[in-house]
Amino acid sequence: MPEIAVLPGDGIGQEIVPEAVAVAQAVTRDRDFIWREYLIGGAAIDATGGALPPETLAACQAADAVLMGAIGGPKWDALPAPQRPELGALLPLRKQLALYANIRPVRMTPALIGASTLKPEVVRGVDLVVIRELTGGLYFGEKGRRSAPRAAYDTLVYTEEEIRRIVRLAFQWARARRWKLCSVDKANVLESSRFWREIAVDTAREFPDVELTHMYVDNAAMQLVRRPEQFDVVVTENMFGDILTDLASMLSGSIGMLATASMNGPKGLYEPAHGSAPDIAGQDAANPLAAILSAAMMLKYSFALTEESERIEKAVAAVLDSGWRTADLAEPGARIIGTREMGAKVREAL
Ligand code: IPM
Ligand code: MG
Repeated sequence: MPEIAVLPGDGIGQEIVPEAVAVAQAVTRDRDFIWREYLIGGAAIDATGGALPPETLAACQAADAVLMGAIGGPKWDALPAPQRPELGALLPLRKQLALYANIRPVRMTPALIGASTLKPEVVRGVDLVVIRELTGGLYFGEKGRRSAPRAAYDTLVYTEEEIRRIVRLAFQWARARRWKLCSVDKANVLESSRFWREIAVDTAREFPDVELTHMYVDNAAMQLVRRPEQFDVVVTENMFGDILTDLASMLSGSIGMLATASMNGPKGLYEPAHGSAPDIAGQDAANPLAAILSAAMMLKYSFALTEESERIEKAVAAVLDSGWRTADLAEPGARIIGTREMGAKVREAL
């Protein structure tokens, strides 16, 4: 029986994940999945002393997919960096599960066009996906401190194979979409970027039907807010992808809508792109839609349940079309509801 490890984590993670699980269970009623919850992040630090307990890691390794909420919060910010939820749990989990490809689709939901801070004519029709390399680059290179003079460093290293596999995956995504791939780098300055570009060009020979372009990351940031509809699939290194996807999330109306998949083959970790939002945690005020849409991605990409996945996406669109909003999406005249009610509305709309 396929097994899903459920990691609610901290803050609003505790509120949004149960809604995502309930929605996914509602569309998979006649199928058997084992859903089991495990501790991660601050919640795990409090209960066990470590942000990624061995039991959680083993369960995630054994599971077919992982559904996560969010981790971290002010309570654990003062811990030494390696013990904090981000560095102590999320990054090792990605690395241990070898989830090298982070898929972040950004689509403008027509009902939310007024919720974006950008002009409707700029964001109308946005439909792109950023494929972010997730287990290499600056996040995982050698890092450290030096004394006399005091200094700190992080290193950006990519092997040929790391670049090739992510670029290849991005080409495959482009083939399933509009045959356009934009590789984002900083080849005018960084040697690692020049190498990235070289490998991207070489890999393109396997995909002569896809149009490959290159863009410097600073220009890409500008183009994403200037004329976002020019992008189809974007592929980039870990840190550039982290920054560009927060920026791109605003093209979908709110970061509260952005679902992500971190994958290696069919195995995946699915989580909303937003954080644990400690300021609104425990108030039934969080937007569960990114978590719900992450569960939809899980059904599609880990279990090939495409129809079920699309039912969830349509239900979310229908609820938004009816004017229901969580506070983060509110426009004048919107009907504001809480986390639980939003989850219930999506289930009704299935
Ligand atoms: C993300 C997050 C993480 C990252 C943090 C929480 C470590 O910002 O998934 O984008 O930087 O990868
Ligand atoms: Mg980020």
